[in-house]
Amino acid sequence: MIVYDAIIIGSGIAGLNAAAAFPKNKNVLIICKENSWDCNTFYAQGGIAVATDKDDIPAHIADTLAAGAGLCDEKAVDILCHDGIKVIADLIARGMPFDTDAEGNLLYTKEAAHSKERIIHAGGDATGREVHHFLMQQNRQPLLYKSTVTDLLIEDGICHGVSVYHDGKCKNYYARSVIIASGGIGSLYAYHTNARTISGDIQGICLEKGLALRDMEMTQFHPTVFIHNKGARKQLLTEALRGEGAHIIDENGKRFLFEYDKRGELSPRSLVSKAIYDWKEKTGLEVYLSFPDFEEEAFHERFPTIYFNMKDMGFNLPFEDVPISPAFHYAMGGIETDLNGKVPGCANLYAVGEVASTRVHGANRLASNSLLEGLVFSKRAVEDILARSVYFKLKVFDNDCEVLIKEGDAAIKEELRQIMWNAVSIVREMSSLQAALGRIDSLLQKDIGKLLRLRLKVSKNIIESAISRKESLGAHYIKNERK
Ligand code: SIN
Repeated sequence: MIVYDAIIIGSGIAGLNAAAAFPKNKNVLIICKENSWDCNTFYAQGGIAVATDKDDIPAHIADTLAAGAGLCDEKAVDILCHDGIKVIADLIARGMPFDTDAEGNLLYTKEAAHSKERIIHAGGDATGREVHHFLMQQNRQPLLYKSTVTDLLIEDGICHGVSVYHDGKCKNYYARSVIIASGGIGSLYAYHTNARTISGDIQGICLEKGLALRDMEMTQFHPTVFIHNKGARKQLLTEALRGEGAHIIDENGKRFLFEYDKRGELSPRSLVSKAIYDWKEKTGLEVYLSFPDFEEEAFHERFPTIYFNMKDMGFNLPFEDVPISPAFHYAMGGIETDLNGKVPGCANLYAVGEVASTRVHGANRLASNSLLEGLVFSKRAVEDILARSVYFKLKVFDNDCEVLIKEGDAAIKEELRQIMWNAVSIVREMSSLQAALGRIDSLLQKDIGKLLRLRLKVSKNIIESAISRKESLGAHYIKNERK
């Protein structure tokens, strides 16, 4: 039986960067649910926020804390912004091709709520895809594809490995450390920008094991998403477009965001999402992203992914306006960890990236801080693992072959997405949250497969967290607040 030095669940930036941080002599296995690119990293457009030099670190910290609305762990933010410079320098030294000018200087763009241009990018608007491609090219560790992690093998507060469903069979894989890097919860929502595989399964397993999730009510909705394409994942229109001059208008051409905040298109994304929601409700008008000051060739070169994807859907950018809606984008909450990604209450277990809650993002993530988080905290987790000298005796577990999917699950999954979108999105009301909770409790009584049960339990946790946070904060906006 193989006992790995580490098993990594997930092949996004946090998972692949963790794998890269292990020395060659360590035996590491990366597990991905479908293909390696079925992760949120692959679809990240705008870029990676990083202080432009040491003097910019205090401003990056201040912007991150301001967006986080008082819920950030200041130490986590300090680590993110200080170590951020180092991990990006390291990535560049390893050969990652970020976009530069003719002299080789990094190109920085601006996104909402940043006090200056500090977003680096690659392939124009394909930053995530380029970083993923680069990390995959450099990866030396084996990947287990099309494999769903169905359980964490935990006994007496020690994690010994994972249970995996692959090719019709269940099998246990053992390791001295398990790093969860499986991303957020997009598929719980009717409209989202996430990879199709991202459905909060491991967060659900943690709940069943009695491990804490934290700040799950803090869900971020991206304001500029084209939601009329087929498929679960909707087409993101990066915030960098607004940073570089795109406007949000209603069907009469009015830039109504200035009625909500003097920063207009560059207000924090939670404000922009709420303003769009409110304006549509109030006026019944459609809302668009418009590109009045862009030239075709420059647009095509700077935003090639969006240019071609929208062309496929019948839009001629930058000449045509695109109808937009907010959609679920990012989970600030997740599995509670310390600043090294360690999960309290369970030896050998780590969580990094979007799946984790270090509280680095607080109540609202600053744009483009997520890829940076994945790089910084995955490295810290591996350093913590490598510094360890005590190992626990391995325990072998029976294979758990609980039925994962049952007939009828698909319809309930769809109902859940609608419940979450209608009751637990941009504007929340206590009565709707209570009704949603009641319905989820009754769905949990049905004869369902394990994967759906995990989704329902995570959704329930999000709703309970939303109900217990009685005041609006950051991305959590509650209407008719209880006094
Ligand atoms: C975007 O490109 O607008 C998304 C960036 C982010 O989620 O931070």
